[in-house]
Amino acid sequence: MAGLRILLAASEVAGLAKTGGLADVAASLPRALAARGHRVAVVMPYYAAVRRSGVPVEKTGAALPVPVGGRTLACRLLRTRLPNSDVPVYLVEHPPFFERDDGPGRSLYQQTMPGGYKADYPDNAERFTFFSRAVLEAVPFLGFTPDVIHANDWQTGLVPVFLNEAYRTKPGYRDVRSVFTIHNIAYQGMYGTEVMRLTGLPGWLLNPAQLEFHGHLNFLKAGIVFADAVNTVSPTYAREIQTPDYGCGLDGLLRGVSGKLSGIVNGVDYDDWDPAHDRHLAATYTAETYAAGKAACKADLQKRFSLPERPDVPVLGMVARLVSQKGVDLVLSAAPGFLDLGCQLVFLGDGDPEYHDELNAFKARHPDKVGVFLGFNESLAHAVEAGSDLFLMPSRYEPCGLNQIYSLRYGTPPVVRATGGLADTIVNATEENLKAGTATGFSFDEFSARALYETVVWALYLHRSRKGDFAQVVRNAMAQDWGWDRSAAEYERLYRKVAGVTA
Ligand code: ADP
Ligand code: GLC
Repeated sequence: MAGLRILLAASEVAGLAKTGGLADVAASLPRALAARGHRVAVVMPYYAAVRRSGVPVEKTGAALPVPVGGRTLACRLLRTRLPNSDVPVYLVEHPPFFERDDGPGRSLYQQTMPGGYKADYPDNAERFTFFSRAVLEAVPFLGFTPDVIHANDWQTGLVPVFLNEAYRTKPGYRDVRSVFTIHNIAYQGMYGTEVMRLTGLPGWLLNPAQLEFHGHLNFLKAGIVFADAVNTVSPTYAREIQTPDYGCGLDGLLRGVSGKLSGIVNGVDYDDWDPAHDRHLAATYTAETYAAGKAACKADLQKRFSLPERPDVPVLGMVARLVSQKGVDLVLSAAPGFLDLGCQLVFLGDGDPEYHDELNAFKARHPDKVGVFLGFNESLAHAVEAGSDLFLMPSRYEPCGLNQIYSLRYGTPPVVRATGGLADTIVNATEENLKAGTATGFSFDEFSARALYETVVWALYLHRSRKGDFAQVVRNAMAQDWGWDRSAAEYERLYRKVAGVTA
């Protein structure tokens, strides 16, 4: 079958600039597609973080005129490659929008305000309108005409709109199709209707069947309405977002377009996330060398968090954006109980200041049992995956979740709430599943501290008193293969369907 030509647009890409799992997907799906013989390019903003990452960046010579509002802004197109691959990454340069995430408290989308709280940059609508438009302007410089432009999340929600409404009749765009992936429906990019003027799109598109959502311009809705196909990152989340409980107001729209909506579980990149060759670990290990490797990584983790180096004490680990999605509140409520059970707890995260304060206060009360690192630290994320005995991920909702899939491979059974991708990737260690030899972790349904606590009690009971069963869960977990090949094949089918390319 002939290879496809794909342009993937994302607001973050691992190795260059990252705040969460979208970056991991935007870095590893293109590599997997290229390995399957497709021609792939990625396009993202040229943030300060990309400059600082130290990747070699070259000029393409292209200067794009990008219309935003009444102005046409200048923009150079630079180029690098995805780490460890030949896949080109086009970088949209416009310093007034993207050269700002290098001061303290300034990230890709937000800044810390004097009171300590985090606020979106006030010009995010303009920044990502600009970026989405630049994606279309970059097309003639790729060296190929894409069959599909694959946009991701609200930051690129206008890409399918611009394609249909502003570029379709221009040479080179006629047959380009679009796929839009929802990585998280809670972030919609909702702005006042005055933002319509920035887009340069005809005002009549601002109606409830298209771009308008309760008197606002909604970027995520725009992507959903205009893309040829829409998917999200697990089949369960694809079903959940069609319900009022999970749809964040867009469930009706999604039920209406269910014919073009699907769910594809993310893959993970085992080049980066496998204890057999993870350069961030004190010791590498496989299923065969698990006992010694885990012990060395646990001692290292305890040291890194200044906790007593006790091999016999179970360590519960958590790595997450500290936002309400991740169930940090449940963990904090159940945590005193975990300490009574004789556990140590380690947290790595960055996010809402109230969680920062609560975690700091909790650690101050129990300095010899609780470790907290507030900030983004790649190496520590790997150390927590490897050094913990159980990984906590009791999310309110979880579109896919990557951390629980990483923890499977690290032999660190995850304790998850059975929602979204967590439900699709973890097999609960019930007596029945243990007997069947299929369990890979621990899960519960009800979003409550009690349910989390009881599940951890059960997991610790297996860990301490039914070592054979716990070892079986670890073995099954480590043997799971969530590599990209299967997911990339599903994306390939989706692209072929929208592009009408069957051979
Ligand atoms: P989400 O995208 O909702 O944040 P995922 O589980 O899909 O959740 O992906 C989170 C990714 O971000 C993982 O690669 C995880 O290791 C990483 N991550 C999250 N918080 C931190 C942090 N404070 N430091 C380092 N890595 C982090
Ligand atoms: C989002 C979701 C997470 C998912 C990631 C990558 O950030 O919160 O569940 O794994 O995107 O798709």
